Formats: sequence, structure tokens, C-alpha cells
Amino acid sequence: MSTTLTNTLAWKSLGKHFNEMKDVQMKSLFVEDGNRGNRFKLKENGIYFDYSKHRITDETLTLLFNLAKERGVEERGNAMFLGEKINTTENRAVLHTALRAPKGSTILVDGRNIVPDVHAVLDKMADFSNKIRSGEWKGFTGKRIKNIINIGIGGSDLGPVMAYEALKYFSARNLVFRFVSNVDGSDFAEAVQGLDADETLFIISSKTFTTLETMANAQTARNWALSYLKDPSAVARHFVAVSTNEKEVTKFGIDPQNIFGFWDWVGGRYSMSAAIGLSTMIAIGSEHYHSMLKGLHEMDEHFRTAPFEKNIPVIMGLLGLWYNNFFGAQTQAVFPYDKYLHRFPAYLQQLTMESNGKSVTLDGVTTDYQTGVVYWGEPGTNGQHSFYQLIHQGTKLIPTDFIGFKKSLNNLPPHQDYLIANMIAQGEALAFGKTADEVRTEGVQEQLVAHKVFEGNRPSSTFFLDQMSPENLGKLVAMYEHAVFVQGVIWGINPYDQMGVELGKVLAQNIIPELQDTSKAINHDSSTNALIDFYRK
Ligand code: F6P
Repeated sequence: MSTTLTNTLAWKSLGKHFNEMKDVQMKSLFVEDGNRGNRFKLKENGIYFDYSKHRITDETLTLLFNLAKERGVEERGNAMFLGEKINTTENRAVLHTALRAPKGSTILVDGRNIVPDVHAVLDKMADFSNKIRSGEWKGFTGKRIKNIINIGIGGSDLGPVMAYEALKYFSARNLVFRFVSNVDGSDFAEAVQGLDADETLFIISSKTFTTLETMANAQTARNWALSYLKDPSAVARHFVAVSTNEKEVTKFGIDPQNIFGFWDWVGGRYSMSAAIGLSTMIAIGSEHYHSMLKGLHEMDEHFRTAPFEKNIPVIMGLLGLWYNNFFGAQTQAVFPYDKYLHRFPAYLQQLTMESNGKSVTLDGVTTDYQTGVVYWGEPGTNGQHSFYQLIHQGTKLIPTDFIGFKKSLNNLPPHQDYLIANMIAQGEALAFGKTADEVRTEGVQEQLVAHKVFEGNRPSSTFFLDQMSPENLGKLVAMYEHAVFVQGVIWGINPYDQMGVELGKVLAQNIIPELQDTSKAINHDSSTNALIDFYRK
């Protein structure tokens, strides 16, 4: 049985169009239209978005926009921004956009304007951050805090780590920031190496405050701190929490004054601009943090108001869908040509894959089409000396996003020219390749010609911004958030739940006592039994 998506007129038209497009060479498209590089580009919101190096024509775009219209991307977007409960499986609004709404705006959830609540938390975060940064906040023994350790996992870790790394240039260099996520004790052990408990602040970041990894690390942190500070009342000076679960936080011993709250309408992977960003704010200060929020909000507004033809996240989402559903591409690469963005691909993996890794529609029907793609990446130019070989000459089609900045934050000529020349060259090489005749004119021996041919016709987008900054980071994050949304709407799935993470968690809870008590009978399949047995012995 076909589901609604594959029955749409737009989908069927795209299917026909794909048959005309599948062998079309980008090289010919660029010859036919000498102005293609200018026509298929947008300069919006401080982002130069070049999408000319794609296997598309004007007709492709028109059909993709028709699909977005037919699937109600605009209506669904409006519903999201207005706080309607579009996360239907959890009966929740989806309002990460409210986290960066300017003071004075109104967004209603169940009749309550949530914007003042958001700003009250932001003000509380700013107050606390200022106290840590200035040294006004003292630890239990009266020393100032020098080390900040965020304990959290998934959305309570990846956003904070990524943002800290991305904005390190703007951070207070007299403070040490470390991040503990893994339940592997080595993560904690390494994070506290060389640190003194009386100068260390732990931020326990967990939306639910029940996550196994975070709770285990928080408990270990508490033991570590108290083994030195001795007095349990020291917890109040060295632990704060970011959570929606005040009851559990208080049980842990954290002073209710030191809880930074957020709400069920913020998904974990969409929470880096909620109080989960506390470590970011301590690192870069409240002013820079507000610049990041401004960037996020500007991209929200761009996405909300720009027509599809000028809308960066809409075009990104549609291009991804074009390759995923028609060309059969399985993955999407993201290569930031900026060292500061080295954790951006990891951040995007949760954002995109936990959101759109679903195979059942909102109506509970199993899709008969592909959904979420596999996101991966590393910063350029490092990747060029590693896996780019496969992208250039392998058998897989891997659409690629390049992200670069005109100016480096660290002016060390000629590095930036080298960096950006490489980024631009990669897109050119992927699109246009090198023919056998071109190889021969270089005098290459005939038996090596085939090995040196670059097929080309490999798609890429380039996102070019002025300089790495809190504001630009905000724009990039919101840009991907909304591209994920566009795809989720078209696929008819719910990007805002994550039920697929549950089963493994439950099974681990069954196995923990079986590892701890070797006399317990084990009744799994033969493979699982043997693994447990091997560990026990
Ligand atoms: O296991 C997945 C998940 O629920 C993510 O969606 C979330 O970001 C992460 O775990 C951490 O959850 P919490 O912030 O509640 O500890």
C-alpha cells in the first residue's frame, strides 16, 4: 500500500523528472548556463549559499517546491512557531524557537506567554555566569571557581561541547572547561585529572534527571568532590543543575536556587539555546551568548518568512531529500573548513539522525520510502587526507556540505588562503572531475589513465560566512534545525520524539544486575548469554 507521500502529484512528477535528470552532467548544466553559479545561489542573513553544484535544474526546484507545498511545510512551520502541539506522539509543542525570541514577544503555550519565562531563566543564567567569571561566586573553602565540568549526554552534552569548541576564541581563558558524557568511568577520571575539588563547579545537565549515564557520573562527581571537601553542604557551592525535573535535582542535594529550568517543549537535541547552554554562557559571557541567540532568531525569522525560492533551510532540506529519495544516497557529509567547528558534525548527527531516523509516519503507517540520512563529517582540510578519496572516486554518491568563513579569527597568513582555496577546490573537483582525455594530455601512461579519472557530477553545497562568531554559529545551528524540520514534514514523520533509543536502555537495565550478580540465571539468546558469560568470567 502506498502512503500519502508517494501518492502526491508532486512526488510522481519528481519521479518522472528524476528519470530525465539521473544521467545529466553538472558540467553540461554549467556550459548551457554560464550564469548558473550566480543564479543558483542565495545571499541571505549573512550566508552565501551556493547550491549550483547540484544535479538540479529550475524544473527540479519547482517540483521540489511543489512537493513542499503539497506536504504543507509552510502550514506546519507556522503551527510550530505558534506553539501548536506538533509533537503529536508526546502531545507537546515544539518551541526551541521561543528560546531565542526577543523580550517582549508573545508565544502562547496552553494560554500562557512563555517568553517572559524564557528571559527570566536567561537573566538567572547571566547573573550566575557573571558571578563565576568575576570570581564573586566562591567555592566551599572560599576559593574562586576555576574549573567548570558539564556532566550530560546527548543533547545535554553535544550542543554545549560543540558551542564551547566553536566559540573558544571568545571564551574566558582563565577558566577550564571539561565535558563528561560517557558512562565509561574513564571519561570522568580524565576530566578531573589535575583539578582541585575546591575550585571546581559541576553543572549536571539533564532534561529528565534520570538518564543512567548522567546520574552515574553526577554521583561519582559528588563522591569525588566530597572525598576532598568532606561536608555534604559543600554540594550547594560546587553543583548546579540544568533540568526540567526539580524534584529529582533537589533529591540529589542541589540547592533549588541553583536549578536552571527549561520546559518539555524543548527537545534535548534542540536545547543548546535553553539553560543547557549554561556552560557556554559561562565560557563566552552573557553578551556573546545573546549574540548567539540573535543569530538563531534571525535564522528562525528567515525560515519563517522567506519564500521557498529564497529560503536556505527549505532548499537544503529539499536537496537532501532529492538525493535520499530519488538518487538513493545514503549519507550526507558535512565538512566545516574551520577548526573551531570540529564538533559540529557530531552535533549534527544527533540533531538530524535522532530527529529523522523514523520509519513510521505520524499516522502510524510504515513508510514505503527512505527517511533520515546518515550525517557524518570532519573538518577540512584533514578529511582530504583521509576519506575524501572515496567521495571523489568511490562508488557511493555522497552529497556534501562545505562550510567556510572569509576571515580567520587567527590572522596567520597564508593559512586562511590555503584553507579556503582547498574548500573551493574540493567542490570544483567533485562537480567537474577530470576526463580520460584530460588525464592523457598530462602524459599519463595509458594503463594508469582509468585510475586517474575523476568522474565528477558529485553534488555539494557551499555555505560561506564572514567570520566565526557567536551570531554566525547561531545561524548555522538554526539553519540545520529547520532543514531537518522541512524533511520531517515531507516524510510525514515526527522529528521530535526519539522512541528508538528506549529499547537498548531497558535491556541494559536488565543486564546490569546479571553482570553484578554472577549467580543470577541468564535467559537471553545464545549470543547474548555467551557475551554475559564471557564478561562474568
Ligand atoms: O537517549 C536519548 C536522549 O533522550 C536524548 O534525546 C537526550 O538528548 C539525551 O538522551 C539526554 O537526556 P537528558 O537530558 O534527559 O539526560
